[in-house]
Amino acid sequence: MPTHRARTAPRRTRQPVDRRIGVDHRVPHPAHLLPAPHAYRHRARRPRAPRAGTALRRGSRQLHGQGRRRPPAERVPAGRSGHRPVRGSDGVARHHRLLGRQRLPGPRIRALRRDGLLPRLRGVPGRRQEAAVSCVPFFEVRRLHALDDVQGEIDAAVLRATRSGWYTLGPELDAFEAEFAAYCENAHCVGTGNGLSALELALRAHGVGPGDDVLVPSHTFIATWLAVSATGARPVPVEPAEDGFLLDTEQLGSAVTARTRAVIPVHLYGHPVDLDAVGRFAARHGLAVVEDAAQAHGARHRGRRVGSGNAVAFSFYPGKNLGALGDGGAVVTDDPALADRLRLHRNYGAQQGYDHRMQGTNSRLDEVQAAALRVKLRHLDDWNARRDRVASRYTAALAGVPGIVTPDVAPWAEHAWHQYVVRITDRDAVQARLSAAGVETRVHYPVAVHRTPAYAEEGFGADGGLPRAERLAAEVLSLPVGPYLSDEAVDTVTEALGAVLAPSS
Ligand SMILES: Cc1ncc(COP(=O)(O)O)c(C=O)c1O
Repeated sequence: MPTHRARTAPRRTRQPVDRRIGVDHRVPHPAHLLPAPHAYRHRARRPRAPRAGTALRRGSRQLHGQGRRRPPAERVPAGRSGHRPVRGSDGVARHHRLLGRQRLPGPRIRALRRDGLLPRLRGVPGRRQEAAVSCVPFFEVRRLHALDDVQGEIDAAVLRATRSGWYTLGPELDAFEAEFAAYCENAHCVGTGNGLSALELALRAHGVGPGDDVLVPSHTFIATWLAVSATGARPVPVEPAEDGFLLDTEQLGSAVTARTRAVIPVHLYGHPVDLDAVGRFAARHGLAVVEDAAQAHGARHRGRRVGSGNAVAFSFYPGKNLGALGDGGAVVTDDPALADRLRLHRNYGAQQGYDHRMQGTNSRLDEVQAAALRVKLRHLDDWNARRDRVASRYTAALAGVPGIVTPDVAPWAEHAWHQYVVRITDRDAVQARLSAAGVETRVHYPVAVHRTPAYAEEGFGADGGLPRAERLAAEVLSLPVGPYLSDEAVDTVTEALGAVLAPSS
């Protein structure tokens, strides 16, 4: 049974926030990106530093991924500029001076090895050429929460929730559902445990199940496909438009069959799909439209909010434009009957108590997450406006840079800029050089879904039939786009990109 599968399926392991925050999601450990850990700078400024050996060992453990690892979301915040000046004097200064003397006696080399610092010291500029390395992190939730002391508001809300005695299906969830439905200019919102589950439940509420086909974009995060598979239906990929990222509505017609039951437009990176075209197609073929808005909180489509449709699934993973303090999701709908089915489904098939009317699952947005989301929802429009300014600055600065394709925005769309994604032919080399220059980037996503081991055996694109998804997997690069990024930080990114892509470099 799908329900059984949902309960016993192993949890996805994620990279830490922003990923995987996310993440994507799927974030390499940051240690190799930075010459020195932030923890060092932090400690170095404390009036009473811990014993040097202890601190150094702890630091090197962090760098080598042992012991208590701090996810990127917990990094020590940098100044408002978004830069992280990292110097040879940061924490590793003593060892660096030893190295600087070159003729290191054996015991000193051994000390460096013991502390695990040698590999790091190679990344620290020598004293003569020592210069600050500007680092722009990809995304950090803590820096987002630091804006306008949102963290203080979250703390108060979380305290209220934890002391209320209600932990699931309580007043915070009721309030958040009402507020988020209103934000989406829609009637109902049903909170779920995560975005994948929101998609699955929305498909099930529309009766999608074994024997059905569901049209999905070939270029998306794997969760879109997994939601379809979890219902027992089959995802059928549709390619993006030439030079675009989103499902090509022109190609939907050639993918539809008698088995097709639904279509999932994914508002990838925060840009809405042309819902008018999808709606016309779906009406013609009698299909349900379940929108994947996991990356598009606050986006608008011809003036209407993404979320104002019939079944719109959101994720509140911490790295999203509206992110919880852990997992969370929701389905927003204009259909009261659909909302009722979703509420039953997320709670073991019961409205309340032991009145189980269907074989449901357990997928609820808990009270603590709902309380935090209520706070963050109040800031969402401001944060999206800041993202928009960052994106405009990128687009203006990168316009003349050869070898890079910047993202387009349809004239009828308001982009939520969950990601600012460019295309570069030699992506991996460029990403490595940006990383060396202290600019963190991500790839969303490096392997086309049909090429992942999870779906490779289904045979999609075996004959080279999904070339656009494969090309995007090879070319896309996401630049930092956090709402807290200063102009200076954005310029650091564009200047680094310009230098890397300059014809002579
Ligand atoms: C496009 C898309 N769909 C679905 C999901 C699934 O959401 P969640 O991670 O909350 O399960 C995500 C999350 O990363 C996503 O980016």
